[in-house]
Amino acid sequence: MNTFLSLAAARCSVRSYTDRTVEPKKIEHCLEAARLAPSACNAQPWKFIAVTNPELKNEIAAYTFDPLLSFNRFTHTAPVLIVIVTEKPLIVAQIGAALKNRDFNLIDVGIAAEHICLAAADEGLGTCMIGWFNERAVKKLLHIPSRKRIGLLITLGYPAEGYARPKVRKSKNDVISFNQY
Ligand SMILES: Cc1cc2nc3c(=O)[nH]c(=O)nc-3n(C[C@H](O)[C@H](O)[C@H](O)COP(=O)(O)O)c2cc1C
Repeated sequence: MNTFLSLAAARCSVRSYTDRTVEPKKIEHCLEAARLAPSACNAQPWKFIAVTNPELKNEIAAYTFDPLLSFNRFTHTAPVLIVIVTEKPLIVAQIGAALKNRDFNLIDVGIAAEHICLAAADEGLGTCMIGWFNERAVKKLLHIPSRKRIGLLITLGYPAEGYARPKVRKSKNDVISFNQY
């Protein structure tokens, strides 16, 4: 329990990386953690693309950067980008989602993404989930069929020194209760 909480506390969004290459075994470790993630009806509605080719990775990184907001400028410093493609869920999950008005796909992708980030932290690697990117351009670059969606991108690499920041979180009283709202 303590080990898990320490890992959860140690994981943070890393927005600066060294240029040290990430060992393929460590990338595979993170992707295996994602593959093992739970999903609604066990639909596993995902594909994980690890982008390690530096030119390709930089092209994708450029599509995450918003010059107006000066947002996501750091992504090119990460040696690896993981792209999570959402696949069509099983028909039973689709029916369940429609009946209950819930996007199970997005929930599933979020869980898999966090598995990746925690597995990376466990290996001494840093990550940052990236929800702001030019989806159409990234799909074209990676030959992802246009009807599919990209759920999230994740940067991956060895954190540069001084990356750690104190966690900013709401207080327990604000977010946790027992037996009533
Ligand atoms: C779905 C999602 C999308 C995110 N998109 C971005 C992003 O585009 N750029 C970024 O710098 N951080 C992004 N983040 C990281 C959050 O800003 C970060 O998780 C939050 O501030 C909490 O900080 P921590 O991860 O260091 O604990 C995203 C996180 C999530 C869960």
